[in-house]
Amino acid sequence: MAEADRHVGILGTGSYLPEKVLTNADLERMVDTTDEWITTRTGIKERHIAADDETVGDMGAAAARQALANAGIGPESIDLIIVATITPDSYFPSTACQVQHKLGIKNVPSFDLSAACSGFVYGFSVAEQFIKGGSAKHVLVVAAEKLSAITDWSDRSTCVLFGDGAGAAVLGPVESGGILGTHLGADGSGGDLLYCRATASRSNGPHGGSPTPSNTLQMQGNVLFKHAVRLMTDAALTVIKPLGLTAADIKLIIPHQANSRILNAVAKRLGIDPQTQLYLNLEKRGNMSAASTAIALAEAVEEGRMKRGDIILLDAFGGGLTWGAMAIQW
Ligand code: ACO
Repeated sequence: MAEADRHVGILGTGSYLPEKVLTNADLERMVDTTDEWITTRTGIKERHIAADDETVGDMGAAAARQALANAGIGPESIDLIIVATITPDSYFPSTACQVQHKLGIKNVPSFDLSAACSGFVYGFSVAEQFIKGGSAKHVLVVAAEKLSAITDWSDRSTCVLFGDGAGAAVLGPVESGGILGTHLGADGSGGDLLYCRATASRSNGPHGGSPTPSNTLQMQGNVLFKHAVRLMTDAALTVIKPLGLTAADIKLIIPHQANSRILNAVAKRLGIDPQTQLYLNLEKRGNMSAASTAIALAEAVEEGRMKRGDIILLDAFGGGLTWGAMAIQW
């Protein structure tokens, strides 16, 4: 079969959430906020927080084990591991190498991918290229985040938003359907709107360096809000229009879970019904960056929200700025 004719689809999905739940009531005791403010401005009621000794690699491996089991393939069949994360346990080794080791997989290429909240969609697109090109048959794409580790827990404008968790999927060849179209983008000029400095980047040089920068997440939320609505809408349209699809053809949009107001505004612009066509889990999960889309996909599968032949749309936006949308026929 010619490379371009190979269909690449999702063979199995999985997710993992840490045990501890942090509610809005808990946050009311930590910073000057209210459940009412958080709920009406974001849609978030609670989020999961990893234990101190629980690593991003641990969470990623747990989600990956479930994805492998659901795909019905053993770890020995994986040819490539991609882990999307902005909260790796270490600069190196990569979290992907840790996940590989935890799963008992030997020698396959494994690397991390940094595209913030768009990381899972970026990861799917990279996996698709490897499979279509013939250098991999089964690719494990994991998105794992411990945002609690980079959150300033005294900053009410960010600490109410984020949570921890991991999602995973096994991608491989399928008879028909699978990934129909993808659009990825980035605009580095918006980098200062949402960032977390690397602690080693500006300090500790041979001449003394500069003071260690803050290593917590910094965000200009209201500016990002407008970019998120515009870029997620544009990304979705850029994918579906050339495929000859309209909003009515999309069974379910599974977006990055940034904020329910952003997602409802995107739904409105696309002309989709938020009640039936928009998948939201942020009420109980918060924003988990790349892991948000991955966990939302796994949970939608588990809930039986799509059946064979249905078209779903992943749609993500995040720090970078980055964005990505992907239409997949189930
Ligand atoms: N509790 C109570 N009041 C608060 C809180 C809080 N937790 N946080 C902020 N406020 C106050 C502010 O101080 C401000 O008060 P002021 O008017 O007296 O100055 C007021 O509420 C309004 O603040 P805004 O920041 O304008 O509130 P907004 O309605 O924009 O909501 C939010 C903030 C939820 C962050 C929203 O802007 C948002 O969701 N932005 C997009 C975030 C996003 O998409 N990020 C990208 C993806 S995440 C990633 O890549 C990791």
